[in-house]
Amino acid sequence: MTSSNNQVKRLFDTKAKDWNEKYANALRGRLELFSELIRVHAERKQVVIDFGCGGGALGENLSDPAATLISIDISINMAFECKKYLEIKNRVPVVCCGDFASVKSAPIADLIICSSVIEYVHDTSRFFAEAASRMLPGGLLLASVPNRTSGLRRFELLLRPFAHMLAHIPFLPTKIKNYRDYLVVSRNWFTEEEFARSAATAGLTVREIVTYGSREGGIEAGRNGAMICAVFAKPQ
Ligand SMILES: C[S@@+](CC[C@H](N)C(=O)[O-])C[C@H]1O[C@@H](n2cnc3c(N)ncnc32)[C@H](O)[C@@H]1O
Repeated sequence: MTSSNNQVKRLFDTKAKDWNEKYANALRGRLELFSELIRVHAERKQVVIDFGCGGGALGENLSDPAATLISIDISINMAFECKKYLEIKNRVPVVCCGDFASVKSAPIADLIICSSVIEYVHDTSRFFAEAASRMLPGGLLLASVPNRTSGLRRFELLLRPFAHMLAHIPFLPTKIKNYRDYLVVSRNWFTEEEFARSAATAGLTVREIVTYGSREGGIEAGRNGAMICAVFAKPQ
């Protein structure tokens, strides 16, 4: 386990308790966009892997109740919240704490969901290779990452050196501390072209790619949006 993974775990361990509540408010638009992309592109979704599942609400809402849903997260608190959430929803919880490398027994999936996770992984080429090796031919990877050319990300890039300077200050309000840690550990930001090229290293091709940002009560497509979401396919 790398030290950057430990920082990521610590950050999301502190965020786990309330994560699912975001889907009633701030992240509702994300769920709507991803649902539509899955409706359009995913013919098969019997076996779904939710990689970096967080509290589990996204994966649960994006997969059919009859599907096998495997949820994976590096944060033990997120994995715990996800298991609790899936039980409440009467789903069979298959929740693994770790990353692809530590969850060797995960089955081959029709669909992998990976929402706002790649920005934290240590090695993106390895991530794409491992994801592709767990997809059936014709299977899909729905993944989102920060858009590094957006106004918000340019501003956050300016803040990053200050986040490093604050690294050794122990007593900060939790919100500021979490934002500081996010600025330090969220590293892999892309343009649409870079995102497509990274996935192509593992033989994945783009079915659809959308850049979008938040607006009140939802999201809005547009090149200056802070996020990019893509549906990648593994060739038949
Ligand atoms: C921003 S949250 C997104 C949660 C969820 N996918 C969603 O969109 O609601 C990122 C999640 O990815 C997990 N994560 C980060 N790096 C990971 C890795 N290498 N392997 C597995 N999970 C990881 C974090 O613990 C966290 O729960």
